[in-house]
Amino acid sequence: MMSCLSRVADLHKWIHVVGCMIVAIDGPAGTGKSSVAKEVARSLRFAFFDTGALYRSLAWWVEAQGITWQDESGVKEALCSFHWELRGEDSPSYFVNGTDVTLLIRKAPMADLASKIAAYGFVRDYLLSSQRHFAEGRNVVFEGRDIGTVVFPQADVKIFLTASPRVRAERRQQDLSRQFPHQIFSVEEILSQIEQRDGLDERRAACPLKRAPDAVEIDTTFLTFDEVVKTVLAKIRPHLVPSSSSKGWFYGTVYWTVRGFFRLFYGLKIEGDMYVHKGAGLIVANHASYLDPPVLSVSCPEEVHFLARGSLFQNALFGWFIRKLNAHPVEKTGQDVKVFRDILKLLSMGHKVILFPEGVRSLDGCLQPFQRGLAFIVMKAKVPIYPAYLQGTYQVWPRGQRWPKWKGKVTCRFGPPLYFDVWRARDKRALEEEILSKTWQAVRNLEQG
Ligand code: DC
Repeated sequence: MMSCLSRVADLHKWIHVVGCMIVAIDGPAGTGKSSVAKEVARSLRFAFFDTGALYRSLAWWVEAQGITWQDESGVKEALCSFHWELRGEDSPSYFVNGTDVTLLIRKAPMADLASKIAAYGFVRDYLLSSQRHFAEGRNVVFEGRDIGTVVFPQADVKIFLTASPRVRAERRQQDLSRQFPHQIFSVEEILSQIEQRDGLDERRAACPLKRAPDAVEIDTTFLTFDEVVKTVLAKIRPHLVPSSSSKGWFYGTVYWTVRGFFRLFYGLKIEGDMYVHKGAGLIVANHASYLDPPVLSVSCPEEVHFLARGSLFQNALFGWFIRKLNAHPVEKTGQDVKVFRDILKLLSMGHKVILFPEGVRSLDGCLQPFQRGLAFIVMKAKVPIYPAYLQGTYQVWPRGQRWPKWKGKVTCRFGPPLYFDVWRARDKRALEEEILSKTWQAVRNLEQG
C-alpha cells in the first residue's frame, strides 16, 4: 500500500481554490468505497464521512426498537428518537443514543435492513440534512450511493466505483473475516446478498444508486487498492491549487519580505503548515510577545486576518499599511459584541482569522486558560480551529521589554485542524467546555513538539 501512497503523500500541500471541497465517492456494495475514501481523505487531510454507517445505524435502531422495516409509521417514530453521533477522526466510532454500534452495524443483516429502510423517501430526507451539515466549514470525502446525485450534486469531484459482483463478494468476505475472526463467511452467500442489495439500491424510487452524469467511473475489478487510491487522487489533483498562490501582490510582497527577515534573524522554522487548508477557519495560538501576530501571519500558507488595537490605526500611514495586511481595528474595552460580529463577518466571507484566546500576552511565557469567546465564535461560525504554537518569540521579545533582541530561535508549529459538530450538540454548555479544553490541549501538545 505504501508504494503508491508515498508518491501521493505531498498532495495535502495542495488545496482547493475556493471555500471547502467535497469529494463524492459512490458505488455499489463491496467496491472498496469505504477503504478508498478513508485513504484518500487521509492523504489529503480531509474529513471522511461513511454515509452507509449512518443508514446502518438507523437500521440498528429500528431493529433495537422491535420495529420491522415494513412498518412505515414505526420507522418514522424510530427516526424521531434517533440520535446519532460520530466520534473520532481517523477511525470513527458511531453511537446511537449513547450505544457504541461501530461493530454491530457491520453485520450482513444490518446492511440488508439499511438498504430496505433507505428506500423510504422520508428517511432519506431526514438523513440528508445530517450529511450536509457535516460538510459545513470543512473539506470532506463522502462515500455512499447518492452523494454525487442528491446529497452534493455540486460536489467538486465525483467518482463512481464499480467491480464485478464476484470480486465484490470476495472483498466483502475478506473484510468480514478480518472484523469477525471467529466466524466463517461464505462467498456464495455474500454474492447472493450483494446481488439482492444492488437490485434494491438501484431500483428504489427515492434516490436510487446511479452514476451521476459528471462522475468518473472507475472499474476496480482488476485494480489493487493502491491503484484505485492513486487513480482517485489523480482525478482530484486538477481541482487543487498550491495554497501559497492566492495572496494579493501587496500582501505577498510584505509576507515574503517579513518571512525572510524572520528566517535571517531568528532562524524561523515552520512546522505542520500542510494542516492549514483553504477556507474559513480560526487560527488559535498562544500569545506571549508582540512578535506573535507577524510570525504567525507569515508562517500561515494563506492570507490571514487579525484584529489589532484601534490606537494602532491613529497614524494614517501606519493604519493604511496594516489595513492592507488584513488588520481590523478593535477598541479595547466594552466592545465585545462588535469584536465578535467582526470576526463572524470575516469568517462568513471564507477568511482565516488569527485569535489569541488567552486574551492578553502571558507574563511568563506559559500558556494561560482560554477565554469563552473562542467557543462562542466556533459555535456560531461552525468553522474548524487550526491550533498553532509559537515557540521562542517570548525569549526574543518578552512582555515589558521595549525592543526585541536581534538574535534568537523562533518556531511556528501548526497541528491538525479540530472540527466540532456544533450543529449536532444537544448540550451547548458541554460543547463549550469541550471546545475550550480540546483546543487548549491541542495548543499545549504543540508546545512539546
Ligand atoms: O455502504 P454500505 O454497504 O454501508 O450501505 C448500507 C446500505 O445503506 C446500502 O445498501 C444502501 C444504504 N445507503 C443508501 O441508501 N445511501 C447511502 N448514501 C449510503 C447507504
